[in-house]
Amino acid sequence: MDRRVKVGLIGVGNISPAYLKGCRAFDILDLTACADLNMARAAAVAAENGLQALTVAELLADPAIEIIVNLTIPAAHADISLRAIAAGKHVYSEKPLAITFADGQRIMQAAAAAGVRVGCAPDTFLFAEHQTSRKLLDEGRIGTPVAATGFMVGGGHESWHPAPDFYYQPGGGPMLDMGPYYVTCLVNLLGPVQRVSGAVGAAFPQRQAQDGHMIAVKVPTHYATTLEFASGVIATLIMSFDIPGGHRLPQMELYGSAGTLNLPDPNGYRPDVLLLTGDGAAQPQPLRYPATWARGIGVADLAYGIVSGRPHRASGALALHVLEIMTAAAESSYSGRHITLQTTCERPAALPLDLPPRTLDS
Ligand SMILES: NC(=O)c1ccc[n+]([C@@H]2O[C@H](COP(=O)([O-])OP(=O)(O)OC[C@H]3O[C@@H](n4cnc5c(N)ncnc54)[C@H](O)[C@@H]3O)[C@@H](O)[C@H]2O)c1
Repeated sequence: MDRRVKVGLIGVGNISPAYLKGCRAFDILDLTACADLNMARAAAVAAENGLQALTVAELLADPAIEIIVNLTIPAAHADISLRAIAAGKHVYSEKPLAITFADGQRIMQAAAAAGVRVGCAPDTFLFAEHQTSRKLLDEGRIGTPVAATGFMVGGGHESWHPAPDFYYQPGGGPMLDMGPYYVTCLVNLLGPVQRVSGAVGAAFPQRQAQDGHMIAVKVPTHYATTLEFASGVIATLIMSFDIPGGHRLPQMELYGSAGTLNLPDPNGYRPDVLLLTGDGAAQPQPLRYPATWARGIGVADLAYGIVSGRPHRASGALALHVLEIMTAAAESSYSGRHITLQTTCERPAALPLDLPPRTLDS
């Protein structure tokens, strides 16, 4: 495939280096420009990476740019994505798609009306270890899936993020921040969810940033959630910033009638896939895809979809379903009832094996 798709980044903060690198790992992507509210930051990133530094309005008005990668903070996702769609651009947003389900629906409706595509992080489910897990599941290596667990528990991102305030404001919290990795990974493996229930709480009313300033906590920081999949599988998720003392929980496991998969970190930091089949020993599974795949693969997959007309995998429909699942967890807690979901989605197609380097379609 010779055609390249021009890409512009909006928001060049902490996560942007991963995309600057990741977008250059695939020949189909041509990253040309970046923008940020902070023009000095945009200029510095542009100079370091051979890009054009533009204002947001200039970037959206550039007719050559086809995909806007929205790396702003969660509370700005909907506004930037809607502006990009209004400018006729395809959008790939960092997670979550939006901070409310209603805003997520608005984005998808606007994109459908404008005839443009929406993609959304996380794309970690396309990494080698998760596609390998998907192959093992589809090959029947654990039999019929019956249950799953996902645990993301810690003391909060103020331990490492230089500007952690947004994690404690509406749109933040462990579910909207880390839940997308776990829930997207599970939907990729198990298909759509039908019903959600849960309990949420916040153990600490304030947090201290590394520079010493105090952050008022405005969102739940502990979620205990049950997901009932359309297939009948039941998953238990705990997402928490309220557990500073450490733990001994697995990150994710998938339990089947004939075996268990100890799944890799859905955030992409531990690529081990382990298979347990009842004899006690965990069998490490070789990865069947390139271990070099990283963030940005979802943008490349979107570009292939645009060029060839095929569906893209880290899609807006998947992200909207995941957003509804995550927001339903708190709604269930506040209302004291199970929440039956309005949305559903297809399981994204598994990636082909033996792809040529720097490509995603054979
Ligand atoms: N930091 C991480 O390790 C990490 C990992 C995965 C995903 N993410 C996601 O990436 C997104 C960004 O996170 P981050 O950690 O890079 O945040 P950040 O605060 O470091 O950077 C966000 C950038 O967006 C800019 N921005 C904010 N609103 C804007 C607007 N309306 N128009 C233009 N620019 C705007 C800010 O000036 C800033 O430079 C979030 O959705 C987050 O969930 C972050």
